[in-house]
Amino acid sequence: MSVIRLGDTAPNFTAQSTEGEINFHEWLGDSWGILFSHPADYTPVCTTELGTVAKYKPEFDKRNVKTIALSVDGLDSHKGWISDINETQNTTVSFPIIADEDKKVSTLYDMIHPNADNNLTVRSVFIIGPDKKVKLIIVYPASTGRNFDELLRVIDSLQLTAYHKVATPANWQSGDDCVIAPAVTNEQIPEMFPKGHKEVKPYLRLTPQPNL
Ligand code: BEZ
Repeated sequence: MSVIRLGDTAPNFTAQSTEGEINFHEWLGDSWGILFSHPADYTPVCTTELGTVAKYKPEFDKRNVKTIALSVDGLDSHKGWISDINETQNTTVSFPIIADEDKKVSTLYDMIHPNADNNLTVRSVFIIGPDKKVKLIIVYPASTGRNFDELLRVIDSLQLTAYHKVATPANWQSGDDCVIAPAVTNEQIPEMFPKGHKEVKPYLRLTPQPNL
């Protein structure tokens, strides 16, 4: 097991998936990526999660994000389960699911938490940037299905930071004002943020969302 922290390069690996053998970094290419583990195939919460990711494909595509799932089940299990997901969630799974039977990737990414379950992956999420750096890590318990709207919200925030030098305040939603990064001087603001800004405090400067 290796400790992975924000800002680290996401460890590369090759793995078998429902879409063939994948070299993770090559598969990511210039895209953003979400690597997420689930405890087991043919389980109720996981079925709703993978169905939701499949339905959100247009939202991920809009943001240049590729998604890839993982569990320690085998390829035949994944393939059979995909039919169930498509049928019950009224969608088409069109992203790869890694078959991590030897636990190589789940060990590399510390997705098995033995005091929760010795053999199954928890619900880990890694968001990875086009620079292959880890931008977000969240871990949910098996009993809680993830909020994929929140993950889209985080992607929007990360991309605003990467491309427009703004941060996002608590409970920010797309369309709300953003926070001008502390590294931006007051002199730089008019050119960088032509929509204007409001200085609540010298350290708290807000500007309309730059990319709308
Ligand atoms: C589920 O996906 O429903 C689930 C999987 C493992 C443990 C608990 C729930």
